[in-house]
Amino acid sequence: MKRTRGAALLALGLVLLAAPAHAQKRRVIGMSQCNLGEPWRQQMNADVRNAAAAHPELQVIFKDAQNDSLVQRSHVEEFVSQKVDLIVISPREAAALTRPVAQAYEAGVPVVVLDRAVLGDKFTCFIGADNRAIGRAAGEWIRKTLGGKGKIVELEGLMTSTPGQDRHTGFREGLDAAHNPGLEVVFEADMKWLEPDARREMESALARFPKIDLVYGHNDPGAHGAYLAARAAGREKEMKFVGIDALPYEGLRYVRQGLLDATFEYPTGGAEAIAVALRIFAGEKVEKKIVLGSRLFTKANVDKGGEPIPAAR
Ligand code: FRU
Repeated sequence: MKRTRGAALLALGLVLLAAPAHAQKRRVIGMSQCNLGEPWRQQMNADVRNAAAAHPELQVIFKDAQNDSLVQRSHVEEFVSQKVDLIVISPREAAALTRPVAQAYEAGVPVVVLDRAVLGDKFTCFIGADNRAIGRAAGEWIRKTLGGKGKIVELEGLMTSTPGQDRHTGFREGLDAAHNPGLEVVFEADMKWLEPDARREMESALARFPKIDLVYGHNDPGAHGAYLAARAAGREKEMKFVGIDALPYEGLRYVRQGLLDATFEYPTGGAEAIAVALRIFAGEKVEKKIVLGSRLFTKANVDKGGEPIPAAR
């Protein structure tokens, strides 16, 4: 009798030891990606997946909005009604996704917003690089590289998304055309982050301007689309190309090949999102905003890992 009770207690002790309640609780994360058709976003999902794989208690449900804000909105609503433990969202557009994110947050679901922001402050944590600082660094690099003189084409990312707005504002600050009257942005168009759109817009720019000195694309697919248009017109040697993202198998490869003259790193924040999710699950209060760094890559420094850009001013 005594023995049996002892064995039962021992067994209970073992169970308690083997399964501390906090470590084993299963957590479901809903991840809403705005468009998985782009390499940078595939990298973001891979970063989320790899970081989560180290924590068996985490399950991530991935959804792809295929570049449609209404679809993305319904993904957020579905996650809330599914009662996921946390939502990670990389929103296509700021205004359109603000309400669904706020509703999820107010319903008590923590929301980590990645890379593109929403409006207001009804979310748990925003993680992303400083796009204005990146745009400014690009503008300064372009001003110096052109020696204060030249005709520039700016191919913008979706201007209803915050990185597009910030990469534009920062670029104009860094370019400082007011004090450098020799610099002129002769053509400006929204290529919505998409290479085919960038190529089409660049064809119009080439048709209109007999001389172009540099193309600034808000992302590497945009800069590459412009390069392809210029090459098809036999004019690619006439101008320089600058982009943003610096994925190893995309922008950095283009820099090594001499297609792009410079690219700026845009980290996905995928691993950081999982780290923040774990902290939230552990009951920690997290910062409202986590700013990631960026680096400049040119042919001269790409094999040495690039160089950091100045942080936000
Ligand atoms: C991919 C992408 C990246 C860019 C980011 C901005 O959709 O266009 O190329 O850096 O989104 O949010």
